[in-house]
Amino acid sequence: MNIILLGPPGAGKGTQAKRIEERHGPVQLSTGDMLRSAIRAGSPLGQRAKPIMDAGKLVPDEILIDMIAERIALPDCARGFILDGFPRTVVQAEALDHMLARIGKKLDHVIEMRVDEAALVERITGRFTCAKCGTGYHDRYKQPKVQGVCDVCGAKEFTRRADDTAEAMKTRLAAYHAQTAPILPYYRSTGLYSAVDGMAEIDEVTRQIDAVLAKPPPVRLGDIPKPIKVAPRRRTEETEGA
Ligand code: AP5
Repeated sequence: MNIILLGPPGAGKGTQAKRIEERHGPVQLSTGDMLRSAIRAGSPLGQRAKPIMDAGKLVPDEILIDMIAERIALPDCARGFILDGFPRTVVQAEALDHMLARIGKKLDHVIEMRVDEAALVERITGRFTCAKCGTGYHDRYKQPKVQGVCDVCGAKEFTRRADDTAEAMKTRLAAYHAQTAPILPYYRSTGLYSAVDGMAEIDEVTRQIDAVLAKPPPVRLGDIPKPIKVAPRRRTEETEGA
């Protein structure tokens, strides 16, 4: 199952992509996480991306397209993938189509997480993650069960993203409207598209996504199997007299 999750920053794409991965098996491919790990590694790519990301702007298309093309080609993606944060521009959406056609893969679902943007600043500025295992939390909506201790790995250190400020959020939302929202009409017209209510509680959003994934993917023109020619039945000893 190959899925795209779309929605503005803070819509809950990462939260739900992790749950889809756990419940249904496809691998989460978060371009934001890939870039952040390049920054942590201090690679040339990371050094180039850091100031752009901290300011809330989009990293150039060619970097992201190469990054995703390499990642989708890895063997674990044979069990399916969830694109979280890609595509984010018309150029990336077109490149994805070509990339998938080249490697003989198809999308099954494109899910838009619809949200009330007024709530997003609170979601983003309240977000923090475990410094060891990366589990995500929120000051108000998802606190660790024991204050200051990660539920998953027990670590006691947490981090906040450099771009999770109200100021950078203005630029991130502007980038979403100018560069990402224009790809929505394209996916809405494919028959692969569904929308879920990203303002619902986290478990309810998961239920809505599960309901979308339970629907069989639509039959697309290229998928309609050619009629199978049935060879005329030969008379053999077994069929004679039957
Ligand atoms: P990226 O890491 O992709 O960030 P983003 O799209 O801005 O999305 P977020 O990770 O901030 O939000 P999310 O929708 O995943 O929400 P989450 O589940 O965490 O990209 C970062 C940067 O990298 C970009 O700005 C750009 O510079 C660069 N980049 C990445 N991809 C690129 C590309 N393709 N092209 C160019 N540049 C690229 O949830 C947010 C918070 O809300 C959490 O605390 C969570 O617990 C809480 N929450 C989630 N759901 C709910 C709910 N239903 N109710 C209440 N709280 C909720």
